[in-house]
Amino acid sequence: METESMPSTASAVPEKQREKENEDKKDERDKEGEAFALLSHRQRKKMKRMLFNRAEKLSRKEKEKTERKSNRLKRKGEINEMLLNMSTDEREAWRKEAFRKKNEKLKEVQKKEKEMKEKFAKAKQNIVIDLDFDDIMTPAEKQSMVKQMRICYAVNKKAKISTRLHLTSMNGKGTSRDLREKIDGFENWQGIYTHDNSLPFEIERRGMTDNEASIFFKRKKDLVYLTADSPFEISTLNENDIYIIGGFIDRNRHKMKTLNKAEALGIRHARLPINDFPQMKSSSVLTVNQCFEILVTQLEMNDWKQTIERSVPRRKIAAAAKEKLAEAPKTMTASKIPINVDKAVVDGFTDYGELSD
Ligand SMILES: C[S@@+](CC[C@H](N)C(=O)[O-])C[C@H]1O[C@@H](n2cnc3c(N)ncnc32)[C@H](O)[C@@H]1O
Repeated sequence: METESMPSTASAVPEKQREKENEDKKDERDKEGEAFALLSHRQRKKMKRMLFNRAEKLSRKEKEKTERKSNRLKRKGEINEMLLNMSTDEREAWRKEAFRKKNEKLKEVQKKEKEMKEKFAKAKQNIVIDLDFDDIMTPAEKQSMVKQMRICYAVNKKAKISTRLHLTSMNGKGTSRDLREKIDGFENWQGIYTHDNSLPFEIERRGMTDNEASIFFKRKKDLVYLTADSPFEISTLNENDIYIIGGFIDRNRHKMKTLNKAEALGIRHARLPINDFPQMKSSSVLTVNQCFEILVTQLEMNDWKQTIERSVPRRKIAAAAKEKLAEAPKTMTASKIPINVDKAVVDGFTDYGELSD
């Protein structure tokens, strides 16, 4: 991962730095408290349930880890016992075969890593996730943001055409700190470029080769903030444009947040062309990972309809279908109403179209 190095003051004034970090953490907690206070009773209840489920999940994971370790030890003991019961020749043959298998596996992994590196080296499209929204997220939302970032990375890694994914405001606080602390191996993520600066930025060249720096350097005119609230719609993705996604979760509390930000910064803005697709009618505001996945899929498919069909989750499609069912005329014959909404819709959008029209 290409990273702008953070200036370190730790060795000079550790005491002062600790005090400053504590102050920052306190500020953050205050702001999180403010964001939490803005939630409705239902949202708070939902968030408490989410935190409870998360704690349960953690303890389940811990249990699974211990189980895996004890299974490994058991298997090791079994192998040792098996080897003891073998003749010297048999043991030698077994060891040779085990070594061959291990080598084969290693070569496979190295081959995959090489292919992955080549794929990322070829990536041309730049996408930014703007992480400058810690102030308006609750702790649980920040956690979810980390989860969404994991999904973005997995999507980018799996994609036929990967992108260069830039994270801005990686200033060591809030979400950026959580990303580094909570994701093992985050620093080794490929195709990700982290920047201390907030938008708009004229990226300093620290940690970047000339070629990489030239992508961002003085390119404000190429920045396009993606926002569902924009009156402008993207028709095709342009390799020279740098698309920005607002890296936050707000459960629709902060309408127009990114549109206002783009306008204040004097950069272009646009929405994705998803509003005309029936499955998107329930809500045109996507999550960060959905938005990212649509961009990545579109790079490969170059066809918005196929892109939406492939990247919009079944859940969202089903929700839209339920809405459609509720809207359906009362005279509709029972045979026309699908019993399994999920299935009826996922089987084809045409079935779904029939329902309301
Ligand atoms: C959960 S949304 C945040 C919504 C927020 N109210 C706002 O003002 O953007 C996260 C981000 O996904 C992107 N996004 C979501 N839906 C979009 C759409 N239909 N078109 C373009 N970008 C979208 C935007 O960049 C947005 O900031």
